Amino acid sequence: MSTRVVVNISELTTNDPTLGDNSPLGRLHDAAMVVDEQRVLWVGANADAPAADEWIDACDSAVIPGFVDSHTHLVFAGERSDEFEARMAGVRYDGGGITRTVEATRAAPTDLLRALSATRAAELRASGVTTMEIKSGYELTVAGESRLLDVAREFSDEVTFLGAHVVPEEYANDRDGYVELVMGEMLAACAPKARWADVFCDWGAFSVDEARAILLRAREAGLEPRLHGNQIGDIGGVALAVELDAASVDHCTYVNDLDVEALGSSNTVATLLPGAEFSTRSVYPSARRLLDARAVVALATDCNPGTSYVTSMGFVIALAVREMGMTVGEALWAATAGGARALRRDDIGHLGVGARADFVVLDAPRAAHLAYRPGGPVVRQTVLARR
Ligand code: NIG
Ligand code: FE
Repeated sequence: MSTRVVVNISELTTNDPTLGDNSPLGRLHDAAMVVDEQRVLWVGANADAPAADEWIDACDSAVIPGFVDSHTHLVFAGERSDEFEARMAGVRYDGGGITRTVEATRAAPTDLLRALSATRAAELRASGVTTMEIKSGYELTVAGESRLLDVAREFSDEVTFLGAHVVPEEYANDRDGYVELVMGEMLAACAPKARWADVFCDWGAFSVDEARAILLRAREAGLEPRLHGNQIGDIGGVALAVELDAASVDHCTYVNDLDVEALGSSNTVATLLPGAEFSTRSVYPSARRLLDARAVVALATDCNPGTSYVTSMGFVIALAVREMGMTVGEALWAATAGGARALRRDDIGHLGVGARADFVVLDAPRAAHLAYRPGGPVVRQTVLARR
């Protein structure tokens, strides 16, 4: 297998606390890194860099682990910029609008869904994302959810069944019937195609009892639980996620003290999606409160047409730092190692020896430029290990 050495790295963030400054960011200056096509082989001082088959000159720029975007709804058709415009003019977000995307997605040929998803995946890659979770949830029929998972699998191994996104219009008078469909026929068709099951557990979507029933059944079918919770209000989503040992509870905008405490002593990651607060003009979750309670925090784009049409992790980091009380280092960690934790992966989100060789060469001397130059062309090259 051929090897590559990346030299002249001004600031290397490894997220391996046994390396460099021994902080959680495991940071080295004037560093070099050797990788083969799959793994990190060596990390150290630039002056000690060993020879390799190929040479990448970072030209005194920073290198970071590839971003792990642990929450996207990438596979959809249509757009809803009119809703965004209305919210910016004062209309409050209430969880509505998803059925409009369901209509557009159901009507889209598979080739179109594939092409639209490829464009969004390429945008995420260009922003430094090397792993992306992708959910279904915009067809809400057995064949449709199954089709969305097939498309999602072309772009990622981290695929999530979200048949319980909302109750579709044709079941408006029979929500129990829809929950039965999700737990029965739909789950049977979708479970072999996904790793995760998710439920939108909030006002206007699914109750805690419905979400619990769906996720328990999904677990029996071999899927691991994660949850959309506490985005619009607090109906108990975080508590349910912790009860089920879900890998992650996502949004966490409205959380109470007990939720924060529970997250602090659980294995459930709090995934914050500030693109959604930005795009719905909502209050931002307090990352500081969660971090101070020792909860593990991840940051993700939530890329979707309704509440966060965001394909830039740099933008998410900038929002987290500016609006949610995170330090630049905490935000960088949350967008890399935090995302990996939210996907229960230990081979990604860091650049310790043995990690998957997914990394990003920035066009900046320090990773802080991701937040310091919001919207700027800070990512020079996204390097993916061979899959
Ligand atoms: O994560 N909250 C539920 N799902 C999405 C919104 C999807 C949509 O509006 O289309 C979210 O914000
Ligand atoms: Fe979402």
